[in-house]
Amino acid sequence: TVIRLDDYRPPAWTVEHVALVFDLGIDRTEVDATLQMVRAAGDEPIRLNGEGLELLELSVDDRRLVEGEYILANGLLEIAVDAEHCTLRTKVALRPAENTALEGLYLSGSRESGFLLTQCEAEGFRHITFFPDRPDVLSRYTVTLRADRQRFPVLLAGGNPDGSGELPDGRHWARFVDPHPKASYLFAVVAGRLERISRDYTTADGRAVALHVWAEADVIDRCDYAMDSLVRSMQWDERTYGRNYDLDVFHVVATHDFNMGAMENKGLNIFNAKYLLADPDSSTDDEYRHVEAVVAHEYFHNWSGNRVTCRDWFQLSLKEGLTVFREQSFSADMNSAPLKRIEDVALLRRAQFPEDAGPLSHPVRPSQYSEINNFYTATVYEKGSELVRMLAGRLGTEGFRRGMDLYFDRHDGQAATIEDFIEALGDANDIDLSSYLAWYGQAGTPRLTAEGRFDPAQRQYRLTLRQRTPATAGQPTKQALPIPVRLSLFDRSGRALPLRLEDEARAEGTERTVVLDTAEQHYVFEDIDAAPVPSLLRGFSAPVILECDYQPEDLAILLRHDPDGFNRWEAGQQLAGLAYDDCRDARADGPALLAWTGALAELFADASLDDALLAELLTPPGEIELVERQAERDPDRIRAARQAMLLALALRVGAAPLRVRYEALRASTSAAMDATSQARRQLKRRVLDLLALIDAPLATTFALAQYEQAPGMTDRLAALATLATVAPEQAIAPIAHFRRRYEGNALALDKWFAMQAQLPGADALARVQALEGDPSFMLKNPNRVQSLVGTFARSNPTGFHRADGAAYRWLADRLVAVDGLNPQVAARVATAFNGWKRLEPTRREAAHAVVAELAARKDLSRDLTDILGRVALG
Ligand code: ARG
Ligand code: ZN
Repeated sequence: TVIRLDDYRPPAWTVEHVALVFDLGIDRTEVDATLQMVRAAGDEPIRLNGEGLELLELSVDDRRLVEGEYILANGLLEIAVDAEHCTLRTKVALRPAENTALEGLYLSGSRESGFLLTQCEAEGFRHITFFPDRPDVLSRYTVTLRADRQRFPVLLAGGNPDGSGELPDGRHWARFVDPHPKASYLFAVVAGRLERISRDYTTADGRAVALHVWAEADVIDRCDYAMDSLVRSMQWDERTYGRNYDLDVFHVVATHDFNMGAMENKGLNIFNAKYLLADPDSSTDDEYRHVEAVVAHEYFHNWSGNRVTCRDWFQLSLKEGLTVFREQSFSADMNSAPLKRIEDVALLRRAQFPEDAGPLSHPVRPSQYSEINNFYTATVYEKGSELVRMLAGRLGTEGFRRGMDLYFDRHDGQAATIEDFIEALGDANDIDLSSYLAWYGQAGTPRLTAEGRFDPAQRQYRLTLRQRTPATAGQPTKQALPIPVRLSLFDRSGRALPLRLEDEARAEGTERTVVLDTAEQHYVFEDIDAAPVPSLLRGFSAPVILECDYQPEDLAILLRHDPDGFNRWEAGQQLAGLAYDDCRDARADGPALLAWTGALAELFADASLDDALLAELLTPPGEIELVERQAERDPDRIRAARQAMLLALALRVGAAPLRVRYEALRASTSAAMDATSQARRQLKRRVLDLLALIDAPLATTFALAQYEQAPGMTDRLAALATLATVAPEQAIAPIAHFRRRYEGNALALDKWFAMQAQLPGADALARVQALEGDPSFMLKNPNRVQSLVGTFARSNPTGFHRADGAAYRWLADRLVAVDGLNPQVAARVATAFNGWKRLEPTRREAAHAVVAELAARKDLSRDLTDILGRVALG
C-alpha cells in the first residue's frame, strides 16, 4: 500500500494523556496502557495501530470488551465509541529477545548481560502498544517501569523522575512524567545494567539540569567526549538560537545494536555506540568529529523536532534538514568553517547526487511512500539542509534568527509542515519566500550553466546563467527554481574585482549573490578591463551541478588565489575533474592535468597553507563521484584513470619533497586532539599515499614503522590501510596484530572489517568472504553488517562491480539472510544496486539479472521489496 501526501487527514481521535506500565522481562514484557482519548473530528471509530502485539485485555471506560466489540486486522484495532471522550485500556505482551528488527522494544547484547531499549521512529511505537502511531497526535506521558532489581538495576524513561521504590520478589519500580506533549515516535525506555557519567548543567534561563551519559561498564570510560560535546551543544543552542533545555534531567545512552545513527527521544537520547564513544586508542579523528556532530544533532532536535514536530512523515525534512543545518553550523563554529563546508559538500556529492540521479530519486518532501523507513535518505537530510542554508543565506544571520524565533514561537507544541516553516521565516522578515517551496517538491539536481562574454569596447562582462533539471523517476517535467548564485570576478593576477551591475551607480564589494529564478538570465558587470575569471556558487550557495566552460588556467588561478578555503578547494575539484578527463582519454600531457598538478605542486611548497586544507586539495573527487564523467561506467577504468592522475601528481610534487614532508610531519606526531595535530595526521596520510605511488618500498617502511609507533587510532588505521594497499604481503602480520589487539572492542573491529572490505581489485570478494568466517562476524549486528557487507557493496566499486557478476550474486544472498533478521538494514545495504543501469553492458546485464530476480521474490520484507522494486526500474 502506498501512502500519499495528498491524502492527509487530521486524526479523528487524539490522546490527551497516556499512562504506561511496563513489566519488563527479556523473554516477555507486558505493557498496560491507559489512554485518555478525545474525539477531534467527525464520528469515526477509534483506530489504533498495533503490530506483533499479543492482546491480553481491552476495555473502554472500565468495561472489558469481548470479541465482536472491536475489529483487529492488518495492524489496526478499531473500536466504535459513541462518546466525545473515553478511557481506553489495553494490556499486551511483547517478546523483546526475539525482536531482531531492532524496532520497538528489543534486547541489546546478550541475554545474560544485555539491556532492553526501544527505537520508535518512525513507526516503532505500534510494536509496543496499541496507539494512534502518527506524529500529529501529541500526548502527555506517564511511564512506570517494573523489573527485577538484579537484572535491571537501571530503569529509564523520557521525562522527569516521579518516584521509585521496591516491590515484592526482588523487583523494583520507577516512574517518569513528561510534562511536554509529544508524538509517540519520541517515546523511549531503557532498562538494564548500565554505568553512567554525570554533569550538572544550568541553562541560560536558569534551570538546573542533571546530564547523564549511560553505557555498559566496559565502555563507560569512553563517554567523556560525548558529555563534553553535549555541554557545548547546549551552550551553543542557547547562544545561537536562544533555545534552552526544558526538563530536569537529560539522559544519553549508548548501544552497540542500533539501525541508524542515533535517536532524539525526548529527554532520553539513544545512540549507536559508533556515534557516542570516543577515545584516542580506538577512535579516529573523523570519529571524534562525528561524535561531536551527532550529539549536537540529537540535542538540537529537542527544539527542531520535539517541541515543534512534523505533521506527517512527508514533512520529515522539516526536522531533519533543519537539524542537519543546525548541526553543520555548530560543527563549523567548533572547528574550521571552510573545512566543514568541504566535508559537507563532498558528502552531498558522494551520497545525495547519485540518489537524485537514479530510480531512488525523490523530492526533499516526498509525495508518496510505501515504507517510511526508506526515506531517511541523503536527500531528506543533506539536501534538506542545503535548502535551509539557502533560506538562511537569503535572510542573513539576523533575519534568519528572527524567522527561527517566530517559527519556534508560533508552532511550539504543534505538529507543523514545511509551509509553516517557510511562512514563519518569511513573515518575520516581511519577505515572501514561497517560491522556495518548489525546491521541496521537485527531485533531481539542477544543472546550472554559466557563460561569460567580455566586451573590451564597452568594458563589460556579460554573464549568462541558465538552469535545467533533468527528468527524474515519476517527474518528467521540471520547473525553474530560485537558485542563489554567490559570485566574484577575479582578474588574471588573482585579484577580486569590485562589482557594479549595469543599473547601479557605483561598485559595492567584490562578492555578490544573484538569484536566478527563471530558465535564463543575464547579468552585465561594468568597468571591467580584461576578461575576468568568474568564481561562481561561492560557498556552494545552491545544491546544483555547475557547468561552466572554464579553461584549466582559469581554475588554476582560483585554486592559487581565492582567499576563501572552500572556493579554493572547489576550484581544485573542478580542475581535477578536467584532469581526470585527460587521464581517461589517455592524454598524459593534457593541459588540465598539467595545470592541476602544477598548481598543487606549488601549493605543496607553500608553508603558509593549512595542513588540513592542503590534504583536502591533494584529494581529487572519489571514484564514486567520477562515474558522472563516464558515459558507460566501468569501475576498473575509472579507478585506473584516477590512479593515473594521482601518479602524475606524485611525480610532479616529487619523491624528495614528499619524503621530507612525511618525515617532518612524523617528527611532530603526538596523540593530541587539537586541530593542528589532527591536520598533521590528515596530511601525513595523504603524503604517504602519494609517496607510495612512486616509491613503494620507502612508503612500506614508513607505514610499518607508523603502525608500530602510532600513538592513536588515526595513525594506526591509516598505516594499516596504506600497507594493505601497497604491500599486501607485509600487511598480513599487522592486520592479524590489530585483530588481536582489539579483541572485544566492537567499534575497532568494525573499522578492521571496513578497511579490508574497501581494498580494491579482483580478489576483494574472496577477501570479504574470508572475513565472513571471522568468529566476530555476525549478521544480526547492524554495525558489523554495514562495516563488512555495506562497505564492500557501497564503497568498493572495483571489488563489488566485478565483471563476472559474482559479487552481485553474493550480495543478493546476504540481503535475503539479513532481511530475515532486520529489514531496515537489508533495505539500506540494497541501495548499493542503485545505478546499475548506467554500468557498461556486461556488468549491467549481470546486475540486472540479480536485481530482477530479487525484486520478483514474494518472501521479502516491505522495506527491501520497496527498494528493490524501485531500483529494478533503473
Ligand atoms: N531521527 C533520527 C535522527 O536523528 C533518525 C532515526 C531514524 N530511524 C529509523 N529507523 N528510521 O536522525
Ligand atoms: Zn535527526
